[in-house]
Amino acid sequence: MRRIVTFGSMAVVALFALAACGDDTSRYSTLSPRSDVADDIQGIYKLVFWLALLVFIGVQFAIVYTALRYRRRKEGEVRPPQIHGNKTLEIVWTIIPAIVLLVIFIPTVRIMYDQADSAESGDYVIEVYAKQWWWEVHYPGLGTSTDNVTGEQNILLTANEIHVPVDKKIQIKLYSNNVIHSFYVPQLSGKMDVIPGHENVIGFTASEPGVYFGECAEFCGDSHAWMRFQVVVQPQEQFDAWVTAMNTPSPSAAATYGTNPDGTLVQAPAAMGLCLGCHRVGGTTAAFAPIGLDEDPGTEEQPGTAKIAGPDLGLFGCRTTIGAGIIPNTVEDLEAWLRDPGAIKPGTYMATQIKPGTLKEEDIHTIAVFLESLVPEGGCITVTNAADPINNSLPTGNDSLLAATPEASATPGS
Ligand code: CUA
Repeated sequence: MRRIVTFGSMAVVALFALAACGDDTSRYSTLSPRSDVADDIQGIYKLVFWLALLVFIGVQFAIVYTALRYRRRKEGEVRPPQIHGNKTLEIVWTIIPAIVLLVIFIPTVRIMYDQADSAESGDYVIEVYAKQWWWEVHYPGLGTSTDNVTGEQNILLTANEIHVPVDKKIQIKLYSNNVIHSFYVPQLSGKMDVIPGHENVIGFTASEPGVYFGECAEFCGDSHAWMRFQVVVQPQEQFDAWVTAMNTPSPSAAATYGTNPDGTLVQAPAAMGLCLGCHRVGGTTAAFAPIGLDEDPGTEEQPGTAKIAGPDLGLFGCRTTIGAGIIPNTVEDLEAWLRDPGAIKPGTYMATQIKPGTLKEEDIHTIAVFLESLVPEGGCITVTNAADPINNSLPTGNDSLLAATPEASATPGS
């Protein structure tokens, strides 16, 4: 009876585990590939799975057969002769696993080399800088920003939401100027380490429009678990419209806040003064904060610009989350963030500058309303044409976490 209970519960656990594997619609699932590279990786998974199943069935069959065939049938049966070692059998069960390993090894290595070769170029080159704990995204040649250290011009800057066109080969160059991170979008690519002082590349061609979730996959400090990002795969026209919008001052914000004398940039409110040491806001007069790899790392006590320089906030009103996926992007959530970022995101370098009370309540409100007003003419360019409903919906942040923060839940919208 006990045996039945044990095996029964094991079977139930196994069934649940299998059911979890069967979820083809999770945005974190490697089992629902949406790019050429992810398809190849899943091909290897399938090969390993079927080979493992074959071995499993073979072994189970041999166990059951042996148990039945050689069981003790009646009392007083003589013990069969005991043997120690059988050369033929040993050779056979050494050769079979060697063949299985070879069948897995050859296509795996082939695909590794193919993917590495293919990542050497792309229709679009995107530079992704892993920060603590968020992602800075550079599109060289597509924008108007200038790196004030290297002097590199015409960079389009964004953070945590990487827009790419569908069916185009994307090359992502990965950099870090702090610690080792790992870039991982399960539905689009394999993992790739992001290593200080070393350029790694990854390439993929996304096959379907949609929003794909990514994570930092290498422990990198306090908020490693909150180093999330999204890859927004869009039809080419939508991607082009996004690039244009990112380079155009938001008309609605311009109408409310005014523009600089030549009308090319939206005037950032004076309340943002403190923010501009670390943040740029694309399309606005807030365009001086440091970007780039060659910034000063500072010391543990006095972190330098390499650590505290924050995300570019161009078209912030269209971002879906704040703090690299930690809370939803609304005026209330943004105000909570501005009151005490350290309470929401452990270790965030913004908390070395902004503590509870640093910003006045009316300034917090002004900044939040200004940033949320930064949307392009005609509204945000969201993904359409996504074949999967799940990949077409926008993520929600972590409301429960926000509610658990006393400072955050106080006086929403004030
Ligand atoms: Cu970056 Cu973990």
